[in-house]
Amino acid sequence: MTMKFNSHFNDINESYLFAEVAARTQTFRAANPESDIIKLGIGDVTLPLAPAVIAAMRSAVSEMSEKDTFRGYGPYEGYDFLRESIRGYYGSFGVKIAADEIFVSDGAKSDLGNILDIFSEGGTSLITDPVYPVYVDTNLMAGRKVIFADATEQNDFLPAPDYKVTADIIYICSPNNPTGAAYTLKGLQEWVDYANKTGAVILYDAAYESFISDGGLARSIFQIEGAETCAIEFCSFSKTAGFTGTRCGYTVIPKALEREGLNANKLWLRRQATKFNGVSYVVQRGAEAVFTAEGQKQIRENLAYYKRNARVIADGLDELGIKYTGGKNSPYIWLRCPDNAGSWQFFDLLLNGAQVVGTPGAGFGKNGEGYFRLTAFGSREDTVRAMQRIKKLL
Ligand code: MLT
Repeated sequence: MTMKFNSHFNDINESYLFAEVAARTQTFRAANPESDIIKLGIGDVTLPLAPAVIAAMRSAVSEMSEKDTFRGYGPYEGYDFLRESIRGYYGSFGVKIAADEIFVSDGAKSDLGNILDIFSEGGTSLITDPVYPVYVDTNLMAGRKVIFADATEQNDFLPAPDYKVTADIIYICSPNNPTGAAYTLKGLQEWVDYANKTGAVILYDAAYESFISDGGLARSIFQIEGAETCAIEFCSFSKTAGFTGTRCGYTVIPKALEREGLNANKLWLRRQATKFNGVSYVVQRGAEAVFTAEGQKQIRENLAYYKRNARVIADGLDELGIKYTGGKNSPYIWLRCPDNAGSWQFFDLLLNGAQVVGTPGAGFGKNGEGYFRLTAFGSREDTVRAMQRIKKLL
């Protein structure tokens, strides 16, 4: 019998959005080797790991060098010391979760894709549009049907549930990538009520939670009454503490989340034990240090630095009279391309005219056409220079 590859890969774009942006940037660089390109495209951090994290990792490396303190395989679900620290962090904003509801991973992106292993085949996923492309791509790869909830200027990029629409999985990212919009506790309660009524499960991406500064916005879906019977939350140290290259995240699966006698927490543990061997001890010790008083102070300083970058971008756009959202409770600024330009057209304009790389909104879905995303994760110098160039160009 002839072997067949997964033909669902025909349903997704040939290249991943950020790979496409990188390839186009590389082509430009090859043609213009002298150019001084500033990258405000992919949301990759630029500040180094906090000193408290580095100290913890150094000490863990020393432990690994001694016979008595060396560690081999760790627990599939993560070391207790880190799960306890995460539990304490949730407690600091009033959310009660148990340590065995927390699963440490190598990042939210992997878990958001891998979680589909515990769902039945052939279902329908409801995904907001525009959206982080990973949700759509992983669903299509798995042969699931994808339907969209429109996030537009009309609904402040925060769609509410529509009881005429049914899906078994719902993806919500808040603060949102790419729009920067964030649900209030009340807005999120509507989704939780809807999921509990329809039996759907919400996959809640909280990777940007630490950027929230406005009161009344949801920091975790588990702040919402009833979420423990309908939601899974994904979080990450990437944007919060600069772990994009170090890799560490966590997923919270309440023990109360059950469907037809199957328990999501147990299924995920079983899945992880089979397909995952845990995050390295050194990295988990570094992640634990994020939750110490010193670690929190240091990472909050870094977050404030990025937020000031967002302000620099926002001020520049204000001067140009360009409409945008985000940047306040999020590291992303979502702007309307001037002169009704298309997203990729604006990408080319900025790259050729200002040597600034951003992310075309169209890459996040059909509602992203005509929009553009800039990230606040660059250095201050680059952010200031990029805005000076954009102001000159436009
Ligand atoms: C982004 O730029 O949207 C993010 O960096 C992507 C990610 O976190 O994987």
